[in-house]
Amino acid sequence: MEKILILDFGGQYNQLIARRVREAHVYCEVRPFTMTMEEIRAFDPQGIIFTGGPQSVYLPDSPTVDPAVFKLGVPVLGICYGCQLMAHLLGGKVTEAQEDSAREYGKTVTYFDTDLPLFQNTARKSITWMSHGDYMAKVPEGFRLVAHSDACPNVAIADVERRFYGVQFHPEVNHTEYGAQILQNFLYRVCGLHGQWTMGDFCKRTVAALREQVGDGRVLLALSGGVDSSVLAALFAEAVGKNLTCVFVDHGAMRKNEGDEVEEAFSKWNVNFVRVNAQERFLSKLAGVEDPQQKRRIIGAEFGYVFLDEAMKFGITDKDYFAQGTIYPDVIESGSGDAAVIKTHHNRALPPEVIEQFKGILEPLQLLFKDEVRQLGRELGLPEYLVMRQPFPGPGLAIRIMGEVTKEKLDTLREADFIFRDEIAKAHLEGTMSQYFAVLTNTRSVGVMGDGRTYDYTLALRSVTTSDFMTADWTRIPYEVLDKVSVRIVNEVRGINRIVYDITSKPPATIEWE
Ligand code: XMP
Repeated sequence: MEKILILDFGGQYNQLIARRVREAHVYCEVRPFTMTMEEIRAFDPQGIIFTGGPQSVYLPDSPTVDPAVFKLGVPVLGICYGCQLMAHLLGGKVTEAQEDSAREYGKTVTYFDTDLPLFQNTARKSITWMSHGDYMAKVPEGFRLVAHSDACPNVAIADVERRFYGVQFHPEVNHTEYGAQILQNFLYRVCGLHGQWTMGDFCKRTVAALREQVGDGRVLLALSGGVDSSVLAALFAEAVGKNLTCVFVDHGAMRKNEGDEVEEAFSKWNVNFVRVNAQERFLSKLAGVEDPQQKRRIIGAEFGYVFLDEAMKFGITDKDYFAQGTIYPDVIESGSGDAAVIKTHHNRALPPEVIEQFKGILEPLQLLFKDEVRQLGRELGLPEYLVMRQPFPGPGLAIRIMGEVTKEKLDTLREADFIFRDEIAKAHLEGTMSQYFAVLTNTRSVGVMGDGRTYDYTLALRSVTTSDFMTADWTRIPYEVLDKVSVRIVNEVRGINRIVYDITSKPPATIEWE
């Protein structure tokens, strides 16, 4: 099978590289740079990509690879840090850029040698996305310069014979005009691949691999009813059938009617389904807690303990596995390898004493982005309404209530959120937005209702449009719709007297408020 290895040096865009490679129908995996030469040989890649990273190659203890990797006879593409590392290891010289002009950040006009296999079908002059403070002062022997910008003479290097290429810019981000083409050129023209990998293939392979791994053990699956865990359930239903038990924990921070809807949808499936009503348990653990990270940790841990209790009732044995629908953004934003921690997604917070009870944790979706998970769901025959559900975070409304979470605030937010969703549905706008919800802020303000003064909470509405949930833009909801939502919420929900609309994209904000 055609395979690309992406060695991860800790850049924030690394999974985008994987995504672009898979969009070109080539299977790939992102692995840590600490992979040994034996592991790399066993992986048997037809090409290797070194990712970007936040460090400087010339500093001691910077991430590096065994230079034997260059003796495998396999093409290598180094991106940003990866490019500098290749130059550094092969006898070039990388230094801190002395002049400000040699440091480049953001969109940069770049000039290419378009005769090069890597730059076929691109323009001689186009925009690239740069983010580097270091500079390749000396290019290694055997390499030549194949792209430059006004500020920097060596934006890309190539040793065509050995099939080693390095680019200082990020071809994986959309801002690089011919980025996808450049990556595709690396795969097809440099590595000689054909691009035969599809989601159908991934599905078949994953089902077969899970079936083999689980054997005659059983799988306890954490089901929230959201897209990821529903697709996960379908995958395991296919792989292990009756050996699967889906456990749905109602933590009391679900949206209006959601618990019952999930129960109804999954009771119809031919799998074991258990609903655990743990509302009280979660609320008492959250009492008095205001810090977002602490809330997430508490919810993550409590999820674990609820599961453990279920597992005990279920008579867990050392052959049994725990499955959860972790997807890629959960991994990267919870801090993986050298990437910065943005927020701890609840499913990265299982306590070790829970993990120990199982033979292993299975997270087969962890390399996929949301839209890929949806594609996989379709592949598995899930109905469109389940596949296209908007994502809902595991900790639920608890991270959409700023400050302490109480039963009263949950009820208030549930009603307001329901009205927002109802009006969006009535205006037939669901298809135009990826995720939309209400947030109960911790701010109160003065208002006037009837003839009286009010001093109630401000509610924020949030709606974003995105394909991968790593970056997102706020949705331009028509004013009339916002107006209807605002009037209805203030009239129908006690405790809210002011509505604001969040107009920040991600980055700099995140989608959720906590
Ligand atoms: P952020 O807020 O990080 O959200 O921009 C990106 C996507 O992830 C969802 N999200 C979560 N999903 N557990 C989840 O399962 C979590 O703890 C969590 N936090 C955020 C969020 O709703 C959005 O779709």
